[in-house]
Amino acid sequence: MVIFLVGFMGAGKTSIAQLVAQQYGYTYIDTDHVIEQQTQKSISSLFEELGEDGFRQLEAETLRQLTLLPNTIVATGGGLPCFNNNMQWMNQHGTTIYIQQTVNELVSRLSTQQHNRPLLKDLTNAALASHIEDLLHKREPYYKQAKFAILGTLVSAETIINTAIL
Ligand code: S3P
Repeated sequence: MVIFLVGFMGAGKTSIAQLVAQQYGYTYIDTDHVIEQQTQKSISSLFEELGEDGFRQLEAETLRQLTLLPNTIVATGGGLPCFNNNMQWMNQHGTTIYIQQTVNELVSRLSTQQHNRPLLKDLTNAALASHIEDLLHKREPYYKQAKFAILGTLVSAETIINTAIL
């Protein structure tokens, strides 16, 4: 089984994918890490160098070049599902799961992690919550194209596997 986790920044995609890898022996891939390894640059510097459009292009190419062996779990960047028909591509190549969080939960998680997120790093604390709410509203139609959605702060590896085999 190939599983793609989608959802907003800070939703916990990476940690959940790592749990599935540890507990079920899945191969773990994080699209941001692949991009950083292949370019030898950080996501922040790629945003500066290429702009968001260039980054989205690179992200879509990287997605299509992944080696998707059986039993692979892919944590995707928060914006990836929303561009270049990536959601459609993932639905054709695996089981997609939306890791859903409330706006309040996202705000509390992201308020300490803004520095390494180019789309959030220049926002004041006061602006962060409304920005997250607006962006989530724009992105949810894409995330909701995932085959399954799981709501919650503590998502276990077992829940992911049991959901994906439904
Ligand atoms: C982004 C999310 C980030 C990363 C980049 C852009 C986004 O990934 O790809 O900073 O547009 O939401 P995470 O969801 O892992 O933070």
